[in-house]
Formats: sequence, C-alpha cells, structure tokens
Amino acid sequence: MSRLIKHDEQHPCEIKVSGESKWICMCGLSKNKPLCDGSHKKTKDEENGKLYEYEGDTRIEVTD
Ligand code: FES
Repeated sequence: MSRLIKHDEQHPCEIKVSGESKWICMCGLSKNKPLCDGSHKKTKDEENGKLYEYEGDTRIEVTD
C-alpha cells in the first residue's frame, strides 16, 4: 500500500521545547522528519495552483 500526501506549506513551524526552538517540517520534504532540514528551500519558486512531485533533488510538475 502506498499513498500520496499533498503539502502546501513552504516554511517550517517553530515550537519551543524547554525554551529551545525546534523547527518542524511542514513542507513534507525533510529527510529528518519531524524536524526541518532546509529542504523546503526547493519549494520557494513553486507557482500557485500547480502541483509538484519531488524525487530527490528533481521537481516534476504534475499535470492532469
Ligand atoms: S519545512 Fe520541510 S524541510 Fe523545512
């Protein structure tokens, strides 16, 4: 079984743990989940209304 999950956030979410900032991945691309690893930077030039799939460093625009 497999599933595709859509993410539209392009930045991490900051949480505080014992007063220390932790950055949670919201884009779905981190290889260190649940923590952000900076991979969200790949999404910065995505266009609104388009759907993309990522395979490693390769971004593919998904069309109907
Ligand atoms: S928010 Fe996903 S890698 Fe940073």
